[in-house]
Amino acid sequence: MTTASAPGKIILFGEHAVVYGRPAIAAPVAQVQATAKVRADAGAPRAEVTIEARDLDRQVRLSEAADDEPLADIVRRTLAHLGQPSLEVGLVVEVRSSIPIASGLGSGAAISTAVARALAAHFARPLDEAEVASLVYETEKLYHGAPSGIDNTVVAFGRPVYFVKGKPPETFRVAEAFRIAIADTGVASPTRIAVGGVRERWQADGGRYEFLFDRIGEVSVRARAAIESGETASLGGLMNENQEWLREIGVSSPELERLIAAACAAGAPGAKLSGAGMGGNMIALVDDQCEAAVVSALHEAGAEGVIVTNVRPHLP
Ligand code: PMV
Repeated sequence: MTTASAPGKIILFGEHAVVYGRPAIAAPVAQVQATAKVRADAGAPRAEVTIEARDLDRQVRLSEAADDEPLADIVRRTLAHLGQPSLEVGLVVEVRSSIPIASGLGSGAAISTAVARALAAHFARPLDEAEVASLVYETEKLYHGAPSGIDNTVVAFGRPVYFVKGKPPETFRVAEAFRIAIADTGVASPTRIAVGGVRERWQADGGRYEFLFDRIGEVSVRARAAIESGETASLGGLMNENQEWLREIGVSSPELERLIAAACAAGAPGAKLSGAGMGGNMIALVDDQCEAAVVSALHEAGAEGVIVTNVRPHLP
């Protein structure tokens, strides 16, 4: 049996603007994981692959699955990429995930990454990060329509990335670790809907939206400089500024605003939504002084779950 896992992710800066070519910064979240196990299924007919995803309440047979079934899609793509290895016996691909769905934590990308890696390991043909990221990108299109590529990149690379659509991802120096509290509004928000709404508004008022995307892109550039130089205290102000622009583009929500206000009132130097918005998760910068107060304020304000994660210097 082979096993592989992949982390969740948060977008620290630049969501939505990244779809329109501006830079964004994302980091993996190791506290939540997707795992895939591949084992031979002697009882199954040759060449049959069965995907079992108990957390999603799904069992998918590859031979019967529709073209737009994401679990089947990543299996088909990975097998094709591996040169269609012959299946001596049937295979079971067992998928587990602790990453909440449709909440901006990259659950789809993490599941696909774990499946691609576990299959590659089964056939003793490990894939590098860029190969995994590009396989997962194709499957992400089934969830998102036209994703920027940031989710599959940060999840497959497993370290903080500075990402510009269509360019190779840049990893960068995290001079000093910093901590982020992540709180779930409990409101499911499919990325496709939030991204589609922004596209409609951009089509109706391109000048204004290009202006807003420029402002968000500038925040990402300044945030990268702050992270690289260890000036992590300034990240709070940059998160607040990014959130102002996200409000303007219409992707915040009353539930997100309630959690953001609670985190800031409890001492967080900055907070913003993370991911597609309109629900899903928000993030707040925390430190030793405010962490406990922020976490309990988020619970009191109705967060469904709170995770505190470290964004660390990545070891080459
Ligand atoms: O998958 P989510 O919810 O983290 O959203 C992805 C970020 C967006 O910028 C909104 C979309 C994209 O494709 O980059």
